[in-house]
Amino acid sequence: MPLADYHEQFAAVYDLLYARRDVTGEARFAVELLGLAGTMHGSRHVLDFGCGTGSHALAFGEMGVNVTGFDRSEAMIAQARAKTPALESAKVSFASGSLASFCAQLDGRRFDGAVSFFNVLNCIETPGEMVEHLRLLHSRLMPGGRMLIDVWNGAAVFVDEPRPAVKHFAVQGQPDCETVRITTPTLDRIQQCCTLHYRILNLDRRTGNFTEFESVHKLRFLTPVQYRHLFELAGLEIVDEFPKTRPKTPVAEHDWYISYLVRRSA
Ligand SMILES: C[S@@+](CC[C@H](N)C(=O)[O-])C[C@H]1O[C@@H](n2cnc3c(N)ncnc32)[C@H](O)[C@@H]1O
Repeated sequence: MPLADYHEQFAAVYDLLYARRDVTGEARFAVELLGLAGTMHGSRHVLDFGCGTGSHALAFGEMGVNVTGFDRSEAMIAQARAKTPALESAKVSFASGSLASFCAQLDGRRFDGAVSFFNVLNCIETPGEMVEHLRLLHSRLMPGGRMLIDVWNGAAVFVDEPRPAVKHFAVQGQPDCETVRITTPTLDRIQQCCTLHYRILNLDRRTGNFTEFESVHKLRFLTPVQYRHLFELAGLEIVDEFPKTRPKTPVAEHDWYISYLVRRSA
């Protein structure tokens, strides 16, 4: 079976695989850290970089914050649009493609804040391209505008390396359907790259139908010292570096997921 393009087939099962996340809590937390809580939400506009299937964008919209969800994957954006038909014109909009062309189309418009949840930066091939993306995001922030970015902590990947895993997912409201994800990671410590090979199996016991596909996700992980350097190169000031969800806490080598709160200087 041919390996699917990154995230294209994955988009259809993404919400099932991550159904247990507290997306609304994450969006609320971000609004707080971006300094937008208690402000006139309706006049604030947030960019969700690498928005995936748009769950956070939907949560921002429900909180009354204007949001534009951007993702390079058309399949992800198609899922996002299908979920937010009523909201899309009012509070929530989506776009796909390259970040450079998206920014060019903005016609000088800027965002009050930005988020990038769940390791989007690590999906970018090289550190040089990460800096280019961060520079573009910087250019689209209002002076003083903040951005919250989640990343993999390379130090943690080295001490607690990813292992093969099998996970079962029940499809809500469809007791006869089951999905299984088999993850096989390959770690390249020299290139600081982890290739996650996913095999997704779907079984419908009622019809006996069984489908499967494969998807490969390459993640480039950096250490905190390296991330700091990237932000500096992109002209973004670090406000806080912390283990995910625990602001003002020093990052330790076992903290797999870390967040950066950065700021465009005034
Ligand atoms: C792990 S998913 C995270 C999705 C979403 N932010 C969430 O929290 O569920 C990573 C997403 O980043 C997108 N992505 C990767 N590289 C990107 C890039 N250079 N520009 C825009 N989106 C990108 C992928 O298409 C994918 O939807």
